[in-house]
Amino acid sequence: MLANIEANPEKYEAYETSAVLKNGTRVWISWTNKALFGEDGRFTEILTVGTDVTEKKQVELEKQMMRQQLLHSQKMEAIGRLAGGIAHDFNNLLTTMRGFCDLALLEMQLDDTLRRYIEEIRKASVKASDLTRQLLVFSRKQPMELRSVNLNTEIENLLKMLERLIGEDVTMEVELDSNLWMIRADPGGLSQIIMNLAVNSRDEMTDGGTIITRTSNVEFGDKCQPGAPERKELRYVCLEFSDDGPGIDPGIVDKIFDPFFTTKGAEEGTGLGLLVVYGIVKEHGGWIDVESEAGKGTTFFIYFPARKT
Ligand SMILES: Nc1ncnc2c1ncn2[C@@H]1O[C@H](COP(=O)(O)OP(=O)(O)OP(=O)(O)O)[C@@H](O)[C@H]1O
Ligand SMILES: [Mg+2]
Repeated sequence: MLANIEANPEKYEAYETSAVLKNGTRVWISWTNKALFGEDGRFTEILTVGTDVTEKKQVELEKQMMRQQLLHSQKMEAIGRLAGGIAHDFNNLLTTMRGFCDLALLEMQLDDTLRRYIEEIRKASVKASDLTRQLLVFSRKQPMELRSVNLNTEIENLLKMLERLIGEDVTMEVELDSNLWMIRADPGGLSQIIMNLAVNSRDEMTDGGTIITRTSNVEFGDKCQPGAPERKELRYVCLEFSDDGPGIDPGIVDKIFDPFFTTKGAEEGTGLGLLVVYGIVKEHGGWIDVESEAGKGTTFFIYFPARKT
């Protein structure tokens, strides 16, 4: 170290280190060093001053996190606008394609091979329509119709359909807080959120498993918290959606909300499900968190602002 300083004094003039105190708190120290040289020009001693810059560092880290989040939401917004424009025109074209397929299929003297080809074209255009519909939901031009809603009731109304959707091998459990606060929400949007999450869980749990849907009231002590700069209110209703599937690989967990990010084959996934969920949650003034552990399962936490009474 001393030899290094002697060789390269400027490099060691100022640097920062972090350390963990006995009580577990992390502190940041900014060091300023001055190498002192004797008359013979040889390095004799070093003057060191350490300043505790923990608070400054924390503010910096928070700022950095908020910048990242802002960038992320701007990206999402731009994609949404673009996708909305394209999806609308596409849907019209696809309707035309399907219409002409139907007309062609009405022709009596069509030979079997040709009929099969046209049916395939028709099937593909129906699939493409489903895809554009997802895009349209994400980029919804009109604002959602938010009204006073009890999340428990919405979940209960969806249960039958969900059970059919996820199949027999996956068990659906609910734990609903009976004193749940009301929220302002669009019931169609809520069912889309829950359906997309349920389909994802089902896709991962090929050998069966359990999905648990929980609701609870959450009251925060203050309005600002690093990691959730979206949080503007104190009272939120939390929708927790967890499965005991294989979990999400830590290396990709940052990407799961990205448009077209999928680990499924081209036939099975388009990578839009969670993007749509993200968009709807945003429109409700909420946010979404995910926790996942390999082999244990995945939990999504969605926070909706509670309705003010
Ligand atoms: N419950 C889950 N367990 C494990 N991995 C998940 C879970 N939910 C999502 N993922 C991962 O996140 C990826 C993105 O999910 P998303 O719903 O956005 O797209 P997709 O399901 O692949 O396609 P789409 O929903 O458009 O049909 C999935 O491909 C999967 O790798
Ligand atoms: Mg999906």
